[in-house]
Amino acid sequence: MAINLNGRHFLRLEDFTPEEIQYLLDLSADLKRLKRAGVKPRNLEGKNVALIFEKASTRTRCAFVVACVDEGAHPEYLGKGDIQLGKKETVKDTARVLGRMFDGIQFRGFKHETVEELAKYAGVPVWNGLTDKYHPTQVLADFQTVIENFGRLKDIGFAYLGDGRNNMANTLMIGAAQMGMDFRIVAPRSLFPEKDLVHAAERYAKESGARITLTEDVEKGVKGADVLYTDVWASMGEEAEMAARIKLLKPYQITMKMMKATGKESPIFLHCLPAFHNHDTEVSREVGAMEVTDEVFESKHSKVFDQAENRLHTIKAVMVATLGVR
Ligand code: CP
Ligand code: NVA
Repeated sequence: MAINLNGRHFLRLEDFTPEEIQYLLDLSADLKRLKRAGVKPRNLEGKNVALIFEKASTRTRCAFVVACVDEGAHPEYLGKGDIQLGKKETVKDTARVLGRMFDGIQFRGFKHETVEELAKYAGVPVWNGLTDKYHPTQVLADFQTVIENFGRLKDIGFAYLGDGRNNMANTLMIGAAQMGMDFRIVAPRSLFPEKDLVHAAERYAKESGARITLTEDVEKGVKGADVLYTDVWASMGEEAEMAARIKLLKPYQITMKMMKATGKESPIFLHCLPAFHNHDTEVSREVGAMEVTDEVFESKHSKVFDQAENRLHTIKAVMVATLGVR
């Protein structure tokens, strides 16, 4: 049966079958080709899209805005401090108001329950642009980048190093399990993902033939990996943890030695960004590189800006698939 995602929310990868995820990745590749060819199909002509942001964003915000404009929709940015959400008005009431005015709603914020509550009451598609638990639009872009480099997801060796229990690690683990990858979390035991999520990943892996490994051992974790992936050591909202994490995670910093230890000829480096790879940001001024060395970040292995561009095409695919004209 033909896949039709019209009217669906995009909150977690668990809500989608591997075929539906592949459909979004294929659509994204098509939309990327069209954009490169200068074709603007305007699949979202006349639609209005609300973009709610409780946390800061460069890529996600810009991807939603540019995708809307490319496809003929109007994006409305609703930042922290702009609306009453959670302060003077409940999430449920906000959802019902925005749902009367907008055709789709993006939410980025803290609690995953908030985006679920919005989806429950909005009556229009709601898209998760990052919560403390999941970052599913990012993982679509990550997978598109893997496909661009290796032609497939199945059996790709994918090692995620660092904070193994944040939104990126959680979403990558579930997505990799669904898509049949050889996925490793390489992190200290205290930062392994929560048990329920690991069990869910193992259930998907049985279906797809994926392998899911959790290890503290860097050498074992990166051996045979085609992709080394990392993220910041303290996520938005966890800034107070930073000093402790720097101590704990230093052995998991991605270095050129680690890229070589994969044993692969052309392994790639991925990072959802923003990244601390030098002294040149306000936060990293004192410490310098954290989760990845500048050498790796700037090397030929690094595909992070292809990955960042793919946020646009994958987010566009999610909006077109769930909201587009039929
Ligand atoms: N990767 C990502 O979500 O980036 P932003 O926080 O800039 O949106
Ligand atoms: N884990 C990071 C991802 C940023 C895109 C954070 O939540 O801050």
